[in-house]
Amino acid sequence: MGRGSGFGKAILFNEHFVVYGIPGIVSAIDSTASAVARRTGEGIRIKDERKGATGYTQKKMIQQKDSISRMLKAMSFDQEEVSLEIWLGGNLPGFSGIGASAASSVAIARAIADEFNLDLPDEKINDIAYEAEKAYAGTPSGIDNTAATYGGLIWFKKSVIGRSNTIKKLSLRKPVEIIIGNTGIVADTKAMVEGVAARRKKDPGKYDQLFKQAEDLAFKARNNLNDFNLRKVGELMNRNHHLLQEIEVSCEELDYLVNLSREQGAYGAKLTGGGGGGCMVALTPGKALQEKVATTMENEGFQVLKTKIGI
Ligand code: MEV
Repeated sequence: MGRGSGFGKAILFNEHFVVYGIPGIVSAIDSTASAVARRTGEGIRIKDERKGATGYTQKKMIQQKDSISRMLKAMSFDQEEVSLEIWLGGNLPGFSGIGASAASSVAIARAIADEFNLDLPDEKINDIAYEAEKAYAGTPSGIDNTAATYGGLIWFKKSVIGRSNTIKKLSLRKPVEIIIGNTGIVADTKAMVEGVAARRKKDPGKYDQLFKQAEDLAFKARNNLNDFNLRKVGELMNRNHHLLQEIEVSCEELDYLVNLSREQGAYGAKLTGGGGGGCMVALTPGKALQEKVATTMENEGFQVLKTKIGI
């Protein structure tokens, strides 16, 4: 029996823009997906017991199967030959936007490697999970699987000329509370990524300008995280949400939760992940503020995850 795990994540800056080589900042959160892989004699069977994953798993079932077959190929297994029972669990809920697919890909890749006694370094696990992510995101940047593999707070820049991606760990003076609010809408990252590509093709001038603003914002955010200037970080998150609205990946429900968090005193809030539903993230330093924002949201019937960045 092989075991593995992968971190969930919250993208703090520049989802979507990262697909085009603009830097992004992502933080792993303290919730993980866990996987157990066991050789059996009956093809590939998946038992998904992640909490809150019912609607999520039904919708994503086809993508999940495709992702595992891509993963096995990347690990040089002959799919006709290999028989596996894969169990998925852990404390990372199956919400859209917090890296549930990437975390599960990393967990499964590690569990399979463990079951077959393959001594794979993190770099290789990250590459395998990237291949698996293509099933969920079409042309992923690699930011989700990177966070799921390495954890921590990460500066990520995809190489658009086929070189290695830039992956740099950032350090935060101390962990900071955030909340992740779930709209409850299961979003399709692949469709959202394709939508941005189509709109960019129609209006490249507008998108070039927005990309420049997003790039500038990422550098400012990195400096302010480094200086632990959380008020400024929050303000930059608000600006980032505005850019995401401009590229049309937000939606009414996300905007509602973002505004609600700000009204309750969050330093900043934005959508996180692919958008079009899924989750938003709010910077809520200190237990009291985190609790206040979370409770307000919960009282309105939304699911909330209370966690920290920079762990
Ligand atoms: C999804 O979590 C993040 C996106 O930017 C897609 C990607 O970077 O692969 C929307």
